[in-house]
Amino acid sequence: MNDQAPPAAGEAKPTSASRTTLSHIMTANDANLLGTVHGGVIMKLVDDVAGAVAGRHSGGPAVTASMDEMVFLEPVRIGDLVHVLAQVNWTGRTSMEVGVRVMAERWNESTPAKQVASAYLVFAAVDDLGRPRPVPQVVPETERDERRSQEARIRRTHRLARRRAIKDLRERGDG
Ligand SMILES: CC(C)(COP(=O)(O)OP(=O)(O)OC[C@H]1O[C@@H](n2cnc3c(N)ncnc32)[C@H](O)[C@@H]1OP(=O)(O)O)[C@@H](O)C(=O)NCCC(=O)NCCS
Repeated sequence: MNDQAPPAAGEAKPTSASRTTLSHIMTANDANLLGTVHGGVIMKLVDDVAGAVAGRHSGGPAVTASMDEMVFLEPVRIGDLVHVLAQVNWTGRTSMEVGVRVMAERWNESTPAKQVASAYLVFAAVDDLGRPRPVPQVVPETERDERRSQEARIRRTHRLARRRAIKDLRERGDG
């Protein structure tokens, strides 16, 4: 707990103010038919922690607008202790990109955790009526935060361009 006054609405916030980790031990309830962990279980943890980060950064409700580049690098096994780390990479006017990294280690061994998945999600901050509301800008604090912010801008440009191109194609009624 700290005794500093929270920033006023709209005041920029550093990345560390909302960075969050969620940890969970995988059990038989999380298994798929192959006996490893179901990808959807990991996706839910990713969405959960990213939502917490978006809510903390924006100071209120935020909804998932999109999830992209969800990559599974290694299978997650029953008995793995999974850590899901998330931070705000970039902020727009009412939306935020949250980057998520998933690490796994055996629950009862002191071996180093390895990365098993990653994802990028866009959250929109919303008011009581579900309408987008402005978010504070995020202030990168390290070179790594700055690199992530620059990469998020590239993904944002591609997302908008892809959306516009598909919309244009549909409006032309080619297919
Ligand atoms: C996300 C949502 C609030 C956007 O509402 P909208 O009326 O389209 O509003 P806007 O077009 O102004 O978009 C708001 C922001 O979200 C961003 N956004 C909207 N859709 C997006 C998408 N598919 N991908 C990336 N960003 C998106 C916009 O770029 C904008 O960001 P900016 O203000 O930083 O530039 C609305 O589509 C919604 O409520 N979706 C359902 C969300 C939900 O319920 N998620 C949980 C599913 S169970």
